[in-house]
Amino acid sequence: MGDTKSRIISFYRDFAMKTGFTARTTFSLYNYMFDPQQLCFLIDCLQETETVKGCCVEAGCAWGYTTAFLRKWMDARGIKKDYIALDTFSGFLASDTEHEIKYRSKPERLNNLFSTNKKTWFDYSLKLANVTSVNSIQTDVAQFDFDKLGPISFCLLDVDLYLPIKKCLPNIYRNLSPGGIIIVDDCKHENIWDGAMQAYQEFMAGIGAPQRIECGKLGVIIKTREPAQDLAPAARGSSLEPPAGPHTIPPVERQQRQHIQSIMVNYSLTR
Ligand SMILES: C[S@@+](CC[C@H](N)C(=O)[O-])C[C@H]1O[C@@H](n2cnc3c(N)ncnc32)[C@H](O)[C@@H]1O
Repeated sequence: MGDTKSRIISFYRDFAMKTGFTARTTFSLYNYMFDPQQLCFLIDCLQETETVKGCCVEAGCAWGYTTAFLRKWMDARGIKKDYIALDTFSGFLASDTEHEIKYRSKPERLNNLFSTNKKTWFDYSLKLANVTSVNSIQTDVAQFDFDKLGPISFCLLDVDLYLPIKKCLPNIYRNLSPGGIIIVDDCKHENIWDGAMQAYQEFMAGIGAPQRIECGKLGVIIKTREPAQDLAPAARGSSLEPPAGPHTIPPVERQQRQHIQSIMVNYSLTR
């Protein structure tokens, strides 16, 4: 039986190599959508937010490569926070790609990207990788109620297009704990995903914070201001928010946030 199985696998791999059919999924050794330096930066962010209250969110998780990498690192380090992975698991929304194609001159092929996916495949892949502590949710991030997750300490926002990023960023930021970090992927000018850059820039202008792009495409957002000054007045007074007031942040948290800021500055200087 073992022999038959290995002969079938061997035949299949030769077939894939010769014809190119499924060659990438069969042979690819690097499926991450981030290069090693970018992955290290994401780890640095997780480490810097380790003591910040809240869960970790990956908004746009696709097939789970980065999810598995980050969650495994958290497990190895003994970080027990919840990890929430959000995706449509069927690619982009038609209304979002329509906006890119019609108003942002992007190609029609956007409609097909990431569409071959299923939540059940994502869950199964993580299980095979021995990653058991990820909560996957099938949703449109633009409609998702981030308030129900409670505080967020770290979020990788990786849904590529202008509209969903524009819509969900304020909702994520509202629930970001002081000292928390959001990374918006694909913040790079003049490429197929530059809607991410536009949404990031508009958001940073809206909160009056300087833009910060790391490792060529990672837009950094750190919540350093008083909760009472942040976006989304609707959230103030909700049970998720600390009581509003000018001096509600304890000195230790202030120091922690200054520390995070100096680490991030050092990061860009040393890499
Ligand atoms: C670049 S991939 C994510 C890659 C993943 N973070 C990784 O590192 O492997 C973008 C994902 O965003 C998802 N997506 C796009 N628009 C979305 C939306 N409005 N709501 C939820 N997910 C969305 C797509 O289905 C796709 O899987």
